[in-house]
Amino acid sequence: MTIGWFIYFILLLAGAMTALAAWKGAPYVPTPKKAVEVALDLAQVKAGDTLVDIGAGDGRVLVMAAKRGAKVIGYELSPFLWLLAKITLLRNSVKGSVKLRDGFAANMSNVNVLFLFLMPQTLPNLMRELQKKLKPGTRIVTYTFPIKDWQVEAEKSIDGVGKVYLYRVK
Ligand SMILES: C[S@@+](CC[C@H](N)C(=O)[O-])C[C@H]1O[C@@H](n2cnc3c(N)ncnc32)[C@H](O)[C@@H]1O
Repeated sequence: MTIGWFIYFILLLAGAMTALAAWKGAPYVPTPKKAVEVALDLAQVKAGDTLVDIGAGDGRVLVMAAKRGAKVIGYELSPFLWLLAKITLLRNSVKGSVKLRDGFAANMSNVNVLFLFLMPQTLPNLMRELQKKLKPGTRIVTYTFPIKDWQVEAEKSIDGVGKVYLYRVK
């Protein structure tokens, strides 16, 4: 196989994984920074917390949570965005990790804050998968879409950029 074909194959694979992420969880749309701040305030993210962003996108949520002292871990299925998130963390000197992995298989041990901006139909499926792994008391913040059949603890509208919802694992 020539180097050209190898690069073509890698790009094709990365494209297929990006399409899978859009179909399985959500296409890439970054959360406005104003909304990230409100979500982190609502979940009272602070030093000592471990925050996971499933579908880390460009890594902005991880950087902003890390600036508040939290340990941060991202899961991203698109190789392009995984690389972008890694670069964002490096550029901001954030020590967290971003895993090129399906968030449905995320490790939730020691995690106490979960950030989610995924499609409304994905959220209940993901929660069914993760619920058995989540510790009681874990705060979950979602942007734009609530989690169907979960009881909202608090919610906040942000001028012109939508809404964030807070949940707590029982
Ligand atoms: C709407 S964007 C949110 C990006 C980022 N969390 C933010 O708020 O700015 C959703 C992201 O989730 C990723 N994604 C979708 N399904 C996923 C899955 N099953 N596992 C990991 N990442 C996923 C997409 O590639 C996309 O980057």
